[in-house]
Amino acid sequence: MKKLGIAGILIAVLAVFTLPSRGLDQPNENVQKLMRHKLEYSQGVLEGLCVEDFPMIVENTKELGNISKAASWNVIETPEYAVYSAEFSRAVKDLAEAAENKNLDGATLAYVGMTMKCVSCHKYVRGIRVAAGESVSPEFELQTVLDLTLLLPGPLCTQILLDLGANVTKIEPPAPGDYMSLWPPLAGSVSAMYLALNHGKQQLTLNLKDATDREKFLEMVAKADVVVEGFRPGVLDRLEVGYEQLRAVNPRIILCSISGYGKDGPLSQRAGHDLNYQALAGVLSLSGGDASTPPNPSLQVADTCGGSYAAAMLIMAALFERTTTHVGQHIDVSMSEQLLPLMTTSFANASVENRDPQRDGELLSGGAPCYRSYRTADDQYFTVGALEPKFWHALAAAIELPELAETPHLVTEQSEAITQRLVEVFASKTAKEWTAIFAATDACCEKALEFNEVVSHEHWVARESFREIEASDGSRLKVPKMPGSLAGMNRPR
Ligand SMILES: *[C@@H]1O[C@H](CO)[C@@H](O)[C@H](O)[C@H]1NC(C)=O
Ligand SMILES: *[C@@H]1O[C@H](CO)[C@@H](O)[C@H](O)[C@H]1NC(C)=O
Ligand SMILES: *[C@@H]1O[C@H](CO)[C@@H](O)[C@H](O)[C@H]1NC(C)=O
Repeated sequence: MKKLGIAGILIAVLAVFTLPSRGLDQPNENVQKLMRHKLEYSQGVLEGLCVEDFPMIVENTKELGNISKAASWNVIETPEYAVYSAEFSRAVKDLAEAAENKNLDGATLAYVGMTMKCVSCHKYVRGIRVAAGESVSPEFELQTVLDLTLLLPGPLCTQILLDLGANVTKIEPPAPGDYMSLWPPLAGSVSAMYLALNHGKQQLTLNLKDATDREKFLEMVAKADVVVEGFRPGVLDRLEVGYEQLRAVNPRIILCSISGYGKDGPLSQRAGHDLNYQALAGVLSLSGGDASTPPNPSLQVADTCGGSYAAAMLIMAALFERTTTHVGQHIDVSMSEQLLPLMTTSFANASVENRDPQRDGELLSGGAPCYRSYRTADDQYFTVGALEPKFWHALAAAIELPELAETPHLVTEQSEAITQRLVEVFASKTAKEWTAIFAATDACCEKALEFNEVVSHEHWVARESFREIEASDGSRLKVPKMPGSLAGMNRPR
């Protein structure tokens, strides 16, 4: 992410700092010492460093600038914490030389200021750390995300991160790769759905069952910020690229595992899909009053909200936390569990009223005349969301049914009769006529757009909510952008 200020600089510096030691052949003693301390620090032993164990640290602020020049590397400065000794400066040179010998193109030498507490003398010490690394952008404008996921939840999550400025590499298994890419309809050579969920990502094929490919993957992890995966819990561990292995090459890595039921619990290892997750969370118990079976939810809310959005939110939180802890973590996203907080109001009600919600019969699920859809004369639908009395009154005025204002608009014994009256009224005019009538009325009433009307609706056009992407055959797809404009974020168009 761009514009994190000092935090961003710290991330940049620490990114350099956590390169695996194998990047430097046979590090000498000073380098090893530095690496050891680095690792201790990176693994969160913030209060474990004793001054006596760390003789390199003595106060000398001025020399710092000179070292950076002498080594003529690109140094990122945090001058307020510049404290080091002659021995430390040798370590700096050793690192610089090691980097040079390896011919690291565009190598960066960086240091970071930090505050440590000595456990024996209880003093706080401000110190710096130095490391050399390969081609790390000092601004670190983009977070590097490695995406091992397939189908919908993971790819949408990393598409969101990409729109927020991340550099995403999608790593797919050998053919057929992400089998969503084969699903019709095709746009050029791949599925339209696949293209919309993965455009703008770097693509790479790796077979994680192969040792050489695994090694390649770990090299990428060493320089990455986030790995997102959607295998069944335990699969990454069996492939020997589980969180422990990732953390060993990069303590700052944030691993986000998206699964149906989470990494533990009795259902952890069960296969499932969105419908099953919604079933387990109780979402299906809320609708389908008249139907013989609950209708299939037409939005994959477990995959998208429970999976993609929840994962993106938790990843952002972990990135933010890392700016102070300097270590990553393993995030466990259970798509079914993430649905539970979306139903907070239902659970709150149920525990007080000691009854199950009525299918399609609650205030917001179709039980109230003031909150539902009505069919129009031309077989379209108009939505009424007049929950507050002032909107109910405005509705009554707009449809020229003044007596309506005096009737109860919430869930009551009269709901059905009042609903019936509104059914008749709305059936008397076309959607276009109702749209004109409600254009000037603040009553929370809108036409339910047909799908083909959405992209061209003036509101979405005005807000530039969709973008065009090009398929390999030159055809163009219109797909939603990630809404939101965070100041300074490096957002692709
Ligand atoms: C560092 O360099 C500055 C000029 O860039 C010089 O004034 C200062 O004396 C140098 N410090 C040391 C310790 O060599
Ligand atoms: C994103 O990452 C890839 C692979 O590491 C790299 O080749 C590319 O230059 C990066 N793009 C940006 C904009 O940083
Ligand atoms: C909560 O309870 C009220 C009163 O019974 C009811 O009108 C409303 O529909 C309930 N809300 C939910 C989300 O179940």
